[in-house]
Amino acid sequence: MISSDKLKKMYLEFFQKNGHKIIANASLVPENDPTALFISAGMHPLVPYLLGQPHPSGTKLVNVQKCLRTSDVDEVGDSFHLSFFEMLGNWSLGDYFKAESIPWSYEFLTSNEWLGIDKDRLSVTVFAGDEDASRDEESAGIWKSLGMPEERIYYLPKEDNWWGPAGATGPCGPDTEIFYDTGIEPCGAECKPGCSCGKYNEIWNNVFMEYNKTSDGRYELLEQKNVDTGMGVERTISVMQGKKNVYETEIFVPLIEKIKELAEVEEIPDEQEKSIRVVMDHTRAATFLLADGVVPRNIEQGYVLRRIIRGAIRHGRRMGIEREFLTELSLAVIGIYEADNPHLRKKEAFILNELRKESKKFNNTLIKGLRRFNRIADKKKEIDAKDAFLLYQSFGFPIEITVEIGKENNIPVDVPGFEEEMKKHQKVSSASADRKFGSGLADSQKETVKLHTATHILNEALRVILSKDIVQRGSNITHERLRFDFNFDRKMTEEEKRAVEDVVNQKIKQAIPVTQIETSLEEAKKIATQAVFGDRYGEKVTVYSIGDFSSELCSGPHVENTSELGHFRIVKERSISAGVRRIRAVLE
Ligand code: ALA
Repeated sequence: MISSDKLKKMYLEFFQKNGHKIIANASLVPENDPTALFISAGMHPLVPYLLGQPHPSGTKLVNVQKCLRTSDVDEVGDSFHLSFFEMLGNWSLGDYFKAESIPWSYEFLTSNEWLGIDKDRLSVTVFAGDEDASRDEESAGIWKSLGMPEERIYYLPKEDNWWGPAGATGPCGPDTEIFYDTGIEPCGAECKPGCSCGKYNEIWNNVFMEYNKTSDGRYELLEQKNVDTGMGVERTISVMQGKKNVYETEIFVPLIEKIKELAEVEEIPDEQEKSIRVVMDHTRAATFLLADGVVPRNIEQGYVLRRIIRGAIRHGRRMGIEREFLTELSLAVIGIYEADNPHLRKKEAFILNELRKESKKFNNTLIKGLRRFNRIADKKKEIDAKDAFLLYQSFGFPIEITVEIGKENNIPVDVPGFEEEMKKHQKVSSASADRKFGSGLADSQKETVKLHTATHILNEALRVILSKDIVQRGSNITHERLRFDFNFDRKMTEEEKRAVEDVVNQKIKQAIPVTQIETSLEEAKKIATQAVFGDRYGEKVTVYSIGDFSSELCSGPHVENTSELGHFRIVKERSISAGVRRIRAVLE
């Protein structure tokens, strides 16, 4: 029986044999795309190349890409949805197209030299055509020529057979999807590939990316015709192994064993099936997210991570695991994946430490929060906006978790009301009032993050060189430059500018670790020399320190060590209003 490791190896080998170069498994956090939180498909890091930029590895690429789909977080627990999964993919960047792509897929799936899947189990879908793009007779013709019977080729509309773009604009196109018939009875006369009853499982998607969706919603033809394919590792082996769901494959065995040990049970009772699945899925996701540098926070990627960790903890409790357990489970995840992902072991201490901290934080309030939920539910039979907000603010329940508990107990939750409540509260309590990106950051790209850390050093350097009374008046950071406003009543001299640069560059050279602690606002005000954003939303705040040089109340993100920054240079210094100066600076 084929294992997931074997499938990955064979896939890479097959496409290498056919002229493809293996490319790296990218970070789960997109490096140059502030429009998306996570890499959700193998094509995502390739967008610039699909649009025409030459790729250093050529025009035929293949890899295993880790992916995270937040849209699937709430589906986790059914048979085939995972929030974190591995995707096999092969790409043509303006190289081959349908006539090579489809036969290769078919050969890999059905040839006895490769997967050897029974041809009679496969059926396919192709794009039915609409006003944006024509019916894909070409793909259907290729399938027929390979011996796919006409009655197993289905034409489906855009909802089913069109991929992308990843954001609002970008490369996209019709696709042909390959389904494996699990052999169960059809759920009705209408049951066909695309039906979610579980009879037909999509195992591979070949996208023919010849369009670019423009910002005014048009589909223009790209100069190059690309192929983007994706095959889910867990899903494919689960059908090939004849399993009823992904969690029965060998990948999850060590996790199931560990959870049984933690819950002190021989078998997992049926009613806890969903909980064990959620715990396994979320621990995998959290481990990989932490390894890619995401930390639990109330915004952006950090919020998704926090929600995932807290969801896992709650489901662990439902299985009777009361002590901190995520670290042990995460170690099992690292063990399963370290051979192909050595960064997991390197980041082990950090991963476990963050899991421990987050578990401690949530465990402290979870029981009380659940009690409060039950009291409200008993009395009012609903969780209104204020209740949901209270559960969030005082007990750390992400709204998605409140909704989930509501569903389990048939108690409606006022989500739109909660969002309103959040907005109101942010306006009142946060001077930055920007839940999306704190600290004046325009996005969370690597370069932006570096400039953010540089801003903290600059802030302190100005106090060293100019005056201890300097305070920040504003900050705006993009991936290209930082902008920092401060109180000072005259132009800086050239010497002063050089001296400030020297202090910053010296701190960079000293390779100082950037550390972070979460604490109450009162404590933070004692430690942090700089707290420019006024009272923050929430009870807990973060203080970022750069050695003993700088400590600021700040929501991050920051680099781990100042050595990552490069060379700091002031580009411009000028007045923006009476007594306020503005510095523009870059890292080179
Ligand atoms: N990008 C396509 C998918 O993820 C291949 O299904």
